[in-house]
Amino acid sequence: MSKLPLFVANWKMYKKGDEVDHFFQEFSPFTPSLPLHQIMIAVPAIWIERSCRLASQAVSIGAQNCAPYDEGAYTGEISAKMIASTEARFCLVGHSERRTIFKETNQEVNEKVKLLLSYDIRPVLCVGESKEEKESGLEKKVIEQQILEALQDVSSDELKKIIIAYEPVWSIGTGLVPQPSLISDIHRFCKEVLFQNLGDEASTVPVLYGGSVKEDNVEELLREKDIDGVLVGGASLSAQQFIDIIRKGMQIL
Ligand code: PGA
Repeated sequence: MSKLPLFVANWKMYKKGDEVDHFFQEFSPFTPSLPLHQIMIAVPAIWIERSCRLASQAVSIGAQNCAPYDEGAYTGEISAKMIASTEARFCLVGHSERRTIFKETNQEVNEKVKLLLSYDIRPVLCVGESKEEKESGLEKKVIEQQILEALQDVSSDELKKIIIAYEPVWSIGTGLVPQPSLISDIHRFCKEVLFQNLGDEASTVPVLYGGSVKEDNVEELLREKDIDGVLVGGASLSAQQFIDIIRKGMQIL
């Protein structure tokens, strides 16, 4: 049987309240024949509850980031515990925009992953090399380090909740997408790193691809055996475009 792909949207810091309403007016009537939670939308934290109210049952709503601390005097931060007290089910961690703009380290990403797991929120761990790292042939080294440091002290049972998203930094928002076979090679590498270092349980961790995913490339990407789903930024801001991506992606089934 073919795999069931995951479709994850990342709205980043876009959408006012009325735009969130408008998105779900258009998106919620769409009922693809996919099991629950194969469609996930990471919204700005301020819109988690609104989105949970407006999204259909089939869709999981999640956050885009959390603090590396449980609670305390950290003005402006949002904790995993707070996210868990909403109906959100997952949270992106280590997105390259957090790593580059906010200087987030693998150690902080590891704290976030552990906190999210302790509150039963699924971490979507984003990894990927920069353009310079790619040009120096360092991509596998960087990705291996990002995965192993982010998943340090995560138990084998907890590993089953992790999703990995491989997003080459130079591909995000640029329209530059690596050859699907090259992406697949990196995905196989991620799976090997997981299996060799973290054991059997890690072999079920889905590895998604993110970076300029659109309606016209999603099918080809998902036809690759080791690409288990997609993380969509810009094109997920429009309900219609995200629906078209899901429809196109489902052609592989
Ligand atoms: P993009 O963003 O689809 O706009 O390239 C992907 C992401 O940043 O997760």
